[in-house]
Amino acid sequence: MADLTVTYCGVSFPNPLILPSGIAQEIPADHLRAIKAGAGGITTKSLTIEPREGNPLPRVAKYQEGFLNSVGLRGPGIEKGKGLIKEFLASSPVPVLVSVFATNVHDFVRFASELCPLNPHFLELNLSCPNVEDDMGKALGLGAESASAAVAAVKKVSGSVPILAKLTPNISNIAQVARSCEQAGADGIVAINTAGPGMLIDISRKKPILGAKRGGVSGPAIRPIAVRCVYDIFEAVKIPIIGMGGITTWQDAVEMMMAGATLVGVGSATYFKGYGAYEEIKKGLQEYMEKEGVKNLTELVGAAH
Ligand SMILES: Cc1cc2nc3c(=O)[nH]c(=O)nc-3n(C[C@H](O)[C@H](O)[C@H](O)COP(=O)(O)O)c2cc1C
Repeated sequence: MADLTVTYCGVSFPNPLILPSGIAQEIPADHLRAIKAGAGGITTKSLTIEPREGNPLPRVAKYQEGFLNSVGLRGPGIEKGKGLIKEFLASSPVPVLVSVFATNVHDFVRFASELCPLNPHFLELNLSCPNVEDDMGKALGLGAESASAAVAAVKKVSGSVPILAKLTPNISNIAQVARSCEQAGADGIVAINTAGPGMLIDISRKKPILGAKRGGVSGPAIRPIAVRCVYDIFEAVKIPIIGMGGITTWQDAVEMMMAGATLVGVGSATYFKGYGAYEEIKKGLQEYMEKEGVKNLTELVGAAH
């Protein structure tokens, strides 16, 4: 059987398929299920400083080619969240990417100061959540300067924990933001968060389906945007990329690696296919490697350039 192991920022993953942030909400139960089903790494739901209830119901809607969500960073806040993360880190057999969300540099620094001593494999800065603007201000990743300021400040207190910058596609030049994050010391880039925001309308009620009306778009509908973003970022930076956005099949995973991703996130696909998506994609990747004589998946990274 072809070897699927991949090294990312010096950390070894049993396979390149990771669970993106927020797809499974509960730490650790949902994450352990994804690991059992074959995920090679787990990103925890973006933690906020204060506990948050999230947006009004319904918060999610599925449509033919994608998924709309306005979860709004529902979560336990840093005090309780820190304990849950500590517990999960002790039990996870695969690398863990701890995701945090803040709208100012000070709060990102607090996260790094409190969470890096727990020694997560990575700290992922969510510079890009589209669903919380109304009450929390604009995401820092919307501008190259604010994104790099957050990364630079976090790097001063993060010790040896690699710092990842997760970016939004909802800007005109994602590659420029990625380059600024690299210059500020980011160890890797994660792209993309959800696109949009979008809206779906229930024509019988004549009302938007989501309680918050607008939500981030994920799933197959955004795959071409994600592939283009990763392609552009690969041309702009030297640090490695985690690519995500609509990956559902092994062919999608290969495409994303050819665009420039070392690891790939498989998120919304699990809503359509269940966690079985991981084994299915892994099997397809192994067959592809054997057929094409690929010894290590890193041979594919950036092959389309
Ligand atoms: C229900 C839901 C919740 C999400 N929550 C977060 C989050 O808390 N933090 C984050 O960085 N991204 C969040 N995302 C975005 C995903 O991590 C991912 O970037 C995006 O869905 C694209 O990948 P996909 O098409 O494979 O789902 C969420 C996505 C969904 C569908």
